[in-house]
Amino acid sequence: MKKIGLIYSFNTNKTSLAARKIAEDFGEGQVDNVNAETITEKEFLSFDNLILGVPTWFDGELPNYWDEFAPALEDLDLKGKTIAIFGNGNQKGYPENFLDAVGIMTDLLESRGAQLIGFTPVKGFTFESSKAVRGEQFVGLGLDFENQGNQVNSRIKKWVEQLRGEFK
Ligand SMILES: Cc1cc2nc3c(=O)[nH]c(=O)nc-3n(C[C@H](O)[C@H](O)[C@H](O)COP(=O)(O)O)c2cc1C
Repeated sequence: MKKIGLIYSFNTNKTSLAARKIAEDFGEGQVDNVNAETITEKEFLSFDNLILGVPTWFDGELPNYWDEFAPALEDLDLKGKTIAIFGNGNQKGYPENFLDAVGIMTDLLESRGAQLIGFTPVKGFTFESSKAVRGEQFVGLGLDFENQGNQVNSRIKKWVEQLRGEFK
């Protein structure tokens, strides 16, 4: 498996916690941490395997730092890139936009030719609508620290095992 670029905002609390757990579960030397707040096109393209931390903000939107990098992504050729997304959301507080940012980012990356992996069942979550849903799955890993905090670590553990099989 090639080295993974784990890109998330270092200024977050919950996203950073989840990212640290992901890196820990992959094990030492498997993952390079990159701050999404300062990422450049060159850094993004330096990895063939990527994991992005994309929480949903502002009633179904990308957080500022990903929104600011989105125009750069729209110009990149991402063929050959394999990308998995994890996202924090709050299914009780925002049931109509649960994890929307994961879906928004997926659509953008796929439109540039990236292959998205790490889809997970929606079973176990309760919400009304989400741009992150495709069939019976989320197009990534959904985490809800506010309502299902006690499931965060087990969901990550299972996801990392899944990704080990899906990354090349
Ligand atoms: C102002 C605000 C808006 C939010 N909007 C959404 C939303 O539309 N959908 C969702 O699933 N979660 C939403 N959330 C919940 C956050 O995604 C959740 O708290 C997440 O853990 C934040 O992660 P972070 O602090 O690492 O960025 C929102 C939270 C806040 C405070």
